[in-house]
Order: sequence, then C-alpha cells, then structure tokens
Amino acid sequence: MTTTTPTTAGAVPVGAGLSMFDPVFIGIDEFGQPVYLDVVYHNLLAAGEPGGGKSGLVNNICGHGVLCDNTRLVLFDAKLVELGPWRDLADAFIGPDIDHGIDILRRLLVVATNRYTWLLANRRRKLAEGDGMSVILTVIDELAMYSTVLGTKAQQEEFSTLLRGLVSLGRACGMPVVAATQRPSWDIIPASLRDLFGYRAAFRCTSLNSSNIILGQGWAEQGYTASDIAPTNQGAAYLLAEGGVPRRIKAAYLTDTDIYNIADYAAWTRRPTGTPAPAVDPTEWEMAA
Ligand SMILES: Nc1ncnc2c1ncn2[C@@H]1O[C@H](COP(=O)(O)OP(=O)(O)O)[C@@H](O)[C@H]1O
Ligand SMILES: [Mg+2]
Repeated sequence: MTTTTPTTAGAVPVGAGLSMFDPVFIGIDEFGQPVYLDVVYHNLLAAGEPGGGKSGLVNNICGHGVLCDNTRLVLFDAKLVELGPWRDLADAFIGPDIDHGIDILRRLLVVATNRYTWLLANRRRKLAEGDGMSVILTVIDELAMYSTVLGTKAQQEEFSTLLRGLVSLGRACGMPVVAATQRPSWDIIPASLRDLFGYRAAFRCTSLNSSNIILGQGWAEQGYTASDIAPTNQGAAYLLAEGGVPRRIKAAYLTDTDIYNIADYAAWTRRPTGTPAPAVDPTEWEMAA
C-alpha cells in the first residue's frame, strides 16, 4: 500500500488534528441531529443480527481514532477484512489467533496497571487530556469468535476473563474498549462483562428478548426494542448511554473506498517517512491453517 497519492506528493503532512477526547461522531438521531460519543471514558458494546451494521459503527470509531493525535489502536478481527484496513496504523492487529489475542490482552492489563500506579503517585483517579498520555483504543469485531469459537474452552475463558479486566480497568486510564458481537447471550459474554459497557448499541434483533439482552432487562416492555428495526434499515440501532433512555440512531456509513482513503491519509500524517511493513503477514495464517 502506498501512502503518497499524486495530490499529496511533495507536500508535508500537518499531522493529526483530532483528539480521542473530542466527541466522536457516529451518526444521526431520529431528528437528524448529530450523535456523538465520549469513547475515552465509556466502553461501547454493539450487538445485533448479522448485517445489522455493527461493523459499520465500529469502523466509524476506528476512522476517528486513526485521525487522532497521541492515539494508539489495538484491533481484534478474526475475519480480517472488517478492521484490516486499519492494520498498518495499529500497534497490534489480532487475526484468528486466540493465543495472540490472550498475549495482547495480558500486555494491555500490565499497561493499565502501570497507568493506575502513575495516577496514584500523582494523587489522581482518572486520566485527563492534558496528561499527554496516549489513548489506547481497543476494538474487537465479532467478539464471539474469541469467546466461543477459536481455541480451547480454557483459552476462551481466559480471553473473556482478561477482557473483563480490561473493560473494568481501562476507562479511567485512557484505554477504552469497543466491541461488536451478535447475540450477547450468556454463552458469548457473561452479563457481568456486558454490564461493564457503559454504551450499548442494539442493532436489529429478531426478538424482544434478544434486544433486552443487549440493552438490559425491561426496555423492550417500555417500547424500546431493536426488533422493530426493519431488516432493510441497516445501520439503525437503539443507543443506550449510561443512565439514559435508549435513543434511535442511524450510524454513519463509510464505504470500503472511504475507509481505505482515511487509512491511507492517516498513515501519511502519522508516518511521513513512509509506511512500515504490514503488521501482519496473511500467508502466516494460511501456513498455520
Ligand atoms: N449505517 C449504514 N447505513 C447504510 N447501510 C449500512 C449501514 N451500516 C451497514 N450498512 C449496510 O449493511 C451491510 C452490513 O453491515 P455490517 O456493518 O457489516 O453488519 P454487521 O457487522 O452487523 O454484520 C453493509 O455492507 C452495508 O451495505
Ligand atoms: Mg460485522
């Protein structure tokens, strides 16, 4: 992949202009008003039927993240193609390899612990923008691949336990987690893990019960159910922000071309001397399979 397009040849990149502490634009609400998330201090779980638009939403957040100053990405995508476009910009890109995933989660937990030690030493309880410490954004597409499909039962449990640790520790030390999964039932993510996600987005579901599993018990009975989203209305979801009432949103959508354009531009602004070798060599997985 080349990062220098004819229009930018010979130009000097100005560097990233956004911050992860800025509101992250993810789409519009039912009145057409923009919807922003405060991703640094909240973990986000997106769930719903296949084709509902979960990967679209998480890609919006990646697109913001790569354009941010002092922001590092850690991407998990067993399917490779959803988050793959950002892989050269990420500190780590984990494909269908649960050992790699566990290893990276352990390292993230060490970083989180170090950050809390620093906060304690500085008589503080949470990281702020002016601290100059990087935001480490972890994005996981199709979480169920790691918690139920790849590896052994013991590895899946270890993955889920480490992830629970990161989701509980990360948000006050600049290490938020964004995860997407289909039905977040107990076998995919235990309620104890699900409840740690302050933001929850319910994309189309087939039943009231599935919607309740995502948003929390009782919302469907009050009229907030993702089963009333039409299958053709991809990208529509109910967004529950901590303590609020679910609101109907339509996520913004980036086409493949948009995504690669943003990724190339971000690579150019982040690494003006050229793009390093790809973080992953796809042939390694082919040989391992
Ligand atoms: N916000 C959106 N607006 C319009 N179309 C969308 C939107 N999000 C997704 N789509 C369409 O739906 C398809 C599936 O979306 P995707 O994000 O891959 O779903 P999921 O990850 O939930 O399986 C996309 O290929 C696209 O055509
Ligand atoms: Mg998807």
